[in-house]
Amino acid sequence: MRNILITGGAGFIGSHLVRHFVERYPDCRIVNLDKLTYAGNPANLSDVETRPNYAFVKGDICDYDLVCRTIRDNEIDGIVNLAAESHVDRSILDPFVFARTNVMGTLSLLQAARDCWHGEWQGKMFYHVSTDEVYGALPLDGGKFDESTRYDPHSPYSASKASSDHFVRAYHDTYGMPTLISNCSNNYGAYQFPEKLIPLTINNIRHRRAIPVYGRGENVRDWLHVEDHARAIDAILHRGRAGETYNIGGNNECSNIDLVRMLIAAADRLLGRAEGESLSLITFVEDRAGHDLRYAIDSSKLQRELGWRPSITFAEGIERTVRWYLDNEAWIDSVTSGDYMRYYEEVYGRRDRSI
Ligand code: NAD
Ligand code: TYD
Repeated sequence: MRNILITGGAGFIGSHLVRHFVERYPDCRIVNLDKLTYAGNPANLSDVETRPNYAFVKGDICDYDLVCRTIRDNEIDGIVNLAAESHVDRSILDPFVFARTNVMGTLSLLQAARDCWHGEWQGKMFYHVSTDEVYGALPLDGGKFDESTRYDPHSPYSASKASSDHFVRAYHDTYGMPTLISNCSNNYGAYQFPEKLIPLTINNIRHRRAIPVYGRGENVRDWLHVEDHARAIDAILHRGRAGETYNIGGNNECSNIDLVRMLIAAADRLLGRAEGESLSLITFVEDRAGHDLRYAIDSSKLQRELGWRPSITFAEGIERTVRWYLDNEAWIDSVTSGDYMRYYEEVYGRRDRSI
């Protein structure tokens, strides 16, 4: 592949993926199409924005004409779709935005790729980045999701991602489009929007604000460092088998309350506070509606077929991540400033329900 379109490249995972590709493949042109919603921030890519093999297009994946123009003008042969509304709590507030971007946006991308590539699939690939949340929830006492686990989404977010996955498979099965899907567990690392558990907790520790833990904090997530996710996407895009799905996970399960305690231990130490000083900030709050109890991923297919493995241990990744958020307060302040609030009000405060 010579010219790769990454959608959602100004967001959390997308920015790490863009950086990884721009640096690792200097002969490959990376075009980043992003709408720059509240979650997208061009500053996440300030270190690569002047590279000759990088281009940015501001736009919406739902805009079929713009997507076609972008594919044609840049002779795109590979598409990696990360553009999405990604936060479960927001999806509970406004499912329509999730259906629009995650379902209709993915469909618009698929159809644009189909029309621009004219059924000449040689050397082409449509890669859709999805989540383990499509599989639903596991009991605390065992089991893992593998690629054959039945879809059973519970939140509007996971329902929208499940739906988009089905459309991607339908384009493979119906039109023969070469597609790939990966379903990954919870990511953590730098540049994650501070509405998600890890950056929110670190930011609240710094400001001595309450740390909201949903329910009793017993829910379990499998955590993977975002740079390991980027390496997995690279391996799958270049060496995965068309039509296949690959699960990606960190083999690193942790309950929310244990995770919050780990973050407190690291942050208190780095901030020079007494050990455990911030434990008093933990505040148990009303549980999330439909809160999935446990996610766990079996990524043995990816490990066996493509030789990928997570390379960053949880202890090392958490230390690096806490340090990054404490060192980059200006970044947190900028992404939670006026523009973000305006976007939030515009999207979540609107009365018009048409997609
Ligand atoms: P994010 O919310 O940080 O970033 C999403 C990006 O998409 C932003 O840059 C935003 O501006 C852009 N975007 C949103 N709507 C758009 C539209 N209509 N057109 C163009 N761009 C648009 O999300 P993230 O955490 O980086 O997740 C990226 C992808 O990975 C998503 O598809 C998500 O479902 C998936 N995923 C995330 C995780 C995780 O833990 N964060 C885990 C597994 C899978
Ligand atoms: P989150 O980071 O929103 O990711 P996801 O819902 O996609 O797994 O949440 C991670 C876990 O942390 C999830 O079980 C919900 C919980 N949580 C809290 O307890 N408090 C919070 O303030 C947030 C945002 C999440």
